[in-house]
Amino acid sequence: MSQHRASAVEKNTILTGITTTGTPHLGNYVGAIRPAIEASQKPDINAYYFLADYHALIKCQDPAMVHQSSREIAATWLALGLNTDNVVFYRQSDVPEITQLMWFLSCVAAKGLMNRAHAYKDSVQKNQEAGEDQDYGITMGLFSYPVLMAADILMFNATRVPVGRDQIQHIEMARDIAQRFNHVYGEHFTLPEAVIDDHVAVLQGLDGRKMSKSYGNTIPLFLPEKQLRKHINKIKTNLLEPGEPKDPDTSTVFQIWRAFASNEQTAAMRREFENGIAWGEAKKQLFELIEAELREPRQRYYELLESPSHIENMLNEGAEKARAVSVPFMAKLNRAVGLHSLS
Ligand code: TRP
Repeated sequence: MSQHRASAVEKNTILTGITTTGTPHLGNYVGAIRPAIEASQKPDINAYYFLADYHALIKCQDPAMVHQSSREIAATWLALGLNTDNVVFYRQSDVPEITQLMWFLSCVAAKGLMNRAHAYKDSVQKNQEAGEDQDYGITMGLFSYPVLMAADILMFNATRVPVGRDQIQHIEMARDIAQRFNHVYGEHFTLPEAVIDDHVAVLQGLDGRKMSKSYGNTIPLFLPEKQLRKHINKIKTNLLEPGEPKDPDTSTVFQIWRAFASNEQTAAMRREFENGIAWGEAKKQLFELIEAELREPRQRYYELLESPSHIENMLNEGAEKARAVSVPFMAKLNRAVGLHSLS
């Protein structure tokens, strides 16, 4: 409890990372990137947003893909208007102190705690079902994933970590590991809290399930206009004819509409559904709404991809700001565990 009080007097520090595998989709935008950019505009907040490229190596061993994805995800944040004067925006691998801290944390983290991590347990279960050795294909990277994530968070003493529900366990593990370290070496780390925003939509994908790369049902964020229209036309609907009233609350088209519309636009579309709007017409309007929000950022996105050195400069500035914190903090931690000069 005393640790809580200590952190409450400090300015809130929010921190979040996106793993650099794959291309961002509308679900990432609505559920994570857009709210994170909004949060970064509030006063009284320190924001750290980063490309989790060390994490990427766990899932993806295709160097070209890891590299390309870093570029695309960095360009996405910048194109959407992230103001790097307000936010420390960096690449995880530019802050090597994070992996140094990870080792310190590994030496206090209980293996039994890691055994309970969902991602690891799922892999073990799949192996058992397939009749394989239970650790078949499981790397130390996957097993240690929560320790790396704890290092990301604790390095900057983040107080609030906005994440999806699937990541709550990782934040709890970070707290647990921080507590152990504090217990052994003194109060170095603030205990982070997961922030789950119930107002932020978990977007449905083309088939009505949660929009997710693993379901293959996504709408990529910066599709060219024609392709965006095509994808929206693929959203699954029922067979009700024009003129027949439709239920907005079970409709993926309406659910996505709501994530982009104002309250008035949402109310108006609800009435249109009740009046039996044709699916084709609803999708056309949805396309126009999304297109209006994304047209300009998309333009900037493609421009940014053409000037990687601009992106690189932004990331280098971010790394400098991040290391202004991580280098002295790591020096302090080295001393705390007994690793320092003999003279
Ligand atoms: N594990 C997160 C995800 O897959 C990404 C991530 C890595 C992260 N380090 C983090 C998120 C630290 C928040 C804080 O979505």
